[in-house]
Amino acid sequence: MILQNIERYYRFHAGIYDATRWSFLFGRAELIQKIISRSVPSPILEIGCGTGKNLADLCHHLPQARLVGLDISEDMLRQARKNLAAYHSRVELLHRTYDRPIKANPAFDLILFSYSLSMMHKNWESVIEYARQDLKPGGLIAVVDFNDSDFDWFKRWMGMNHVRMDGHLLPRLQSSFRSLKLEINHAYGGLWSYFLFIGQTGVQG
Ligand SMILES: C[S@@+](CC[C@H](N)C(=O)[O-])C[C@H]1O[C@@H](n2cnc3c(N)ncnc32)[C@H](O)[C@@H]1O
Repeated sequence: MILQNIERYYRFHAGIYDATRWSFLFGRAELIQKIISRSVPSPILEIGCGTGKNLADLCHHLPQARLVGLDISEDMLRQARKNLAAYHSRVELLHRTYDRPIKANPAFDLILFSYSLSMMHKNWESVIEYARQDLKPGGLIAVVDFNDSDFDWFKRWMGMNHVRMDGHLLPRLQSSFRSLKLEINHAYGGLWSYFLFIGQTGVQG
């Protein structure tokens, strides 16, 4: 039911997504800069890739990389196919939910979550564990997402937009991965905070 609601939500929003999200999904380009300044990952998986903005940025900066994007919204993936047309030979798009590890061979060097984990209300803890299993030993997880807000009315509003925002993600990420980078920033004078996190799996897997 929750997944169907999200799919329905993006049926309308997919068409206006790229024109509007720059105004509140902060930190996406910064996270990609932080990734490419420290490694040259491939293959890469983005969970909840939406319209493919991050995948296109990664393709641009990493000309040898192979990428996989996964999303439950066919409407968002339709936009992604257009945005990624120039890179189609290197990018695979999967229309599915992340309800089990992909078990790709070779395993992923990098898994990216950009404003998608906060929408995975029911199984976010399992999703973090599937990502850990899908990474190669020493692989990186990179997450940019909403963190928290001091304003209950704002959290309720975000809840109506399928986003859970109550500081639940970071502690779990920090206990599942070795923390390499963490930044918490504030948006619109403190209306909400968002975080950038880069973590690493143990070299033993
Ligand atoms: C806010 S958008 C972010 C899109 C993109 N990552 C970006 O940074 O622009 C969240 C995306 O996650 C997808 N999503 C939400 N829950 C999902 C789930 N359980 N499995 C796969 N995709 C999901 C949505 O369909 C949507 O495209």
